[in-house]
Amino acid sequence: MKYEILHIEVSDGIALVTISREKALNALNSQTMSELAYFFGEEAMSIPDLKGVVLTGAGEKAFVAGADITEFQGLNPLQGKELAQRGQDIFFLIEHFKKPVIAAVNGFALGGGCELAMACHLRIAGEKARFGQPEVNLGLIPGYGGTQRLIQYIGKTKATELLMTADMIGADEALRLGLVNYVVPAGEEVAKATELLEKIGTKAPFAISKIIKTVNAYFAEETDGFSAEVSAFGECCATEDFKEGAAAFVEKRKAAFKGR
Ligand code: CAA
Repeated sequence: MKYEILHIEVSDGIALVTISREKALNALNSQTMSELAYFFGEEAMSIPDLKGVVLTGAGEKAFVAGADITEFQGLNPLQGKELAQRGQDIFFLIEHFKKPVIAAVNGFALGGGCELAMACHLRIAGEKARFGQPEVNLGLIPGYGGTQRLIQYIGKTKATELLMTADMIGADEALRLGLVNYVVPAGEEVAKATELLEKIGTKAPFAISKIIKTVNAYFAEETDGFSAEVSAFGECCATEDFKEGAAAFVEKRKAAFKGR
């Protein structure tokens, strides 16, 4: 696929994906959604020695200011359902991606933008980041998983308030509520996300993929998370990296993982 909106740079096994529609505050139009679907669904896992993905927005003002409202006008109920289902399916690709995906939130993360950040495994907020689900201002509710993931991260009490009031919260409040992992000075979001991916990249890749799977299993209705953990633990025991990790501990040396 030829990307028109996503700008993708790969360096030392880390893919930096920048959503580049700065004039529309990086709002998620259907082209952007298709490109995200292609990148996470088709392309990213074939990047050699991929450690993980950093997702950010172009410019200093916005990560993503939501789904593109100009594409919403005149949606009928069936089209609305289809749009929400497609958005959820694409964000599931991110949430279930086998390598860590970190959102570097450099400004507004509203509506679909907040939902996109929440679909990532970890979130770094710049000090100017603002989070919110303002859909009720439009006569809508979140459609890309926001009602569910916001509760998962910050609990029902505060999530319901934010969903009903459309209030925005700043980076420090997002950190206090557990919505983000770190707050950093503006402009340092990608560097902090990269630093985290470098650290995670020193661990056994198969084990990291199983962390993603089992953490997601906690929230999956059809899966018992404890059983998922037992299975994944067993699968880790079949890897060369487990043998190497355990041997390195006993021999008091640093493990050299090969991702096998
Ligand atoms: N969709 C389309 N265009 C958008 C947009 C969006 N979500 N957010 C901003 N833009 C556009 C504006 O229309 C404007 O374009 P023009 O210059 O052509 O007029 C440009 O980006 C800059 O925006 P503003 O002039 O509004 O900038 P501001 O600094 O005054 O305000 C803001 C910034 C508070 C983020 C404001 O733009 C805003 O409220 N945006 C909408 C946020 C929103 O409601 N998001 C939820 C969308 S619905 C959704 O996401 C549903 C879902 O769950 C799937």
